[in-house]
Amino acid sequence: MPATVIVGAQWGDEGKGKATDVLGSRVDYVVKFNGGNNAGHTVVIGDQKYALHLLPSGILTPGCIPVIGNGVVVDLGVLVEELDALIERGIDVSRLLLSANAHVIPDYNRSLDKVTERFLGSRRLGTTGRGIGPTYADKMNRVGIRVQDLFDEKILTQKVESVLELKGQILAKIYNRRAPGVQDTVEELLSYAERLAPMVADTGLLLNQALDRGERVLLEAGQATLLDVDHGTYPFVTSSSATAGGACTGSGIPPTRVERVIGIAKAYTTRVGEGPFPTELLDEAGEHLRKTGAEYGTTTGRPRRCGWFDAVIARYAARVNGVTDFVLTKLDVLTGLERVPVCVAYDVDGTRHDEMPVNQSDFHHARPVYEELPGWWEDIGDARRFEDLPANARAYVKAVEEMSGSRISAIGVGPDRDETVVVHDLA
Ligand code: GDP
Ligand code: IMO
Ligand code: MG
Repeated sequence: MPATVIVGAQWGDEGKGKATDVLGSRVDYVVKFNGGNNAGHTVVIGDQKYALHLLPSGILTPGCIPVIGNGVVVDLGVLVEELDALIERGIDVSRLLLSANAHVIPDYNRSLDKVTERFLGSRRLGTTGRGIGPTYADKMNRVGIRVQDLFDEKILTQKVESVLELKGQILAKIYNRRAPGVQDTVEELLSYAERLAPMVADTGLLLNQALDRGERVLLEAGQATLLDVDHGTYPFVTSSSATAGGACTGSGIPPTRVERVIGIAKAYTTRVGEGPFPTELLDEAGEHLRKTGAEYGTTTGRPRRCGWFDAVIARYAARVNGVTDFVLTKLDVLTGLERVPVCVAYDVDGTRHDEMPVNQSDFHHARPVYEELPGWWEDIGDARRFEDLPANARAYVKAVEEMSGSRISAIGVGPDRDETVVVHDLA
């Protein structure tokens, strides 16, 4: 039985959490493989709304085993808080597994993330301030702290000591902040060890054994293709591999076991934080999408930048991830527009680009070439089959499918688990 990957096809917040939750009841494991609590996934089940950051969305599905993979960076305090909040709401979290190789986000990296953004001023990236960048930098720099280090005080102390030797000076001497002490840092990290011990595991081994037994594994990305550190709009990206390749390195499941890659794309586009965004709408049309789509960040509450659907980006996401199926989300938000523009190519200083320009400056200057499709007025919230959608909504989906290069297998028509039109079976 092969593994399935879910990735964001744009700049995040496409509705990956809902899609993962919808598929959760059909799989045995849901694995988060990248990022940390910079993510924010809202899942609506009946009258209950859950905002997940660090936990895989599979935690909400009874019987499914949620896994935090080795590619994730873990804020231990946030992990415990999120677990406690779910326990309070009656969710069974006892099945959660945490990779012994996942890196932890120490307090000094949260401080560094915030303070470097402040110092960058107008050149800031607009990070979530959760310490994500500095923690992945430590991992690559081979000075990171891993979950398994919490169970060896001597080694943990040595590691914290050597990293703080430099970072303490940077915080104090460059940024004029109080540098945390080695002992305080070690004690804070150790305070979580006992609570976390039962869930720490060799998750790569367990997942491969599960696949050997014919069980189903769903790999859930945080962030998205255009925020991927290699394939995104660098440097306006996050610091992890949010694309399908990252699903393998971040979980220990080899590429040969992945058969399906589901790209989640919103029927329009949003972005949080700084960086280029060709179809961004700075007028009342953008405000309309923000209001109608409730486009405010789950993690930081920031208003999301909004724009029309960009087929160049969708094609790029299909290529980079090998998308086999798209889920087109929030189609209901487009209801009531006279005409719906879709970006089919870019104009860069008079030259047409049908693919993402490789040069960053070109992408910054890209002006969208729009094709306008006729809108629809009918409420589509109750649609469950493709035929239930009005003709113009169907034509919009078909046009987007044609331009994006992979089939659209499901369509979101509302935030609830059930508000989904299934075109092709995704299981
Ligand atoms: P994620 O980070 O990709 O999981 O997405 P977020 O949860 O940050 O943002 C997506 C938002 O849209 C959430 O508030 C979802 O509840 C909501 N949502 C998801 N799918 C749909 C849909 O088809 N229609 C509407 N109206 N809302 C949706
Ligand atoms: P989900 O999983 C949208 C953005 C931040 C910032 C950049 C770098 O909910 O789709 P970071 O804190 O990661 O160093 O910030 O990446 N960003 C997201 N934008 N959705 C997310 O996650 C994001 N995670 C990070 O706004 O621009
Ligand atoms: Mg989100």
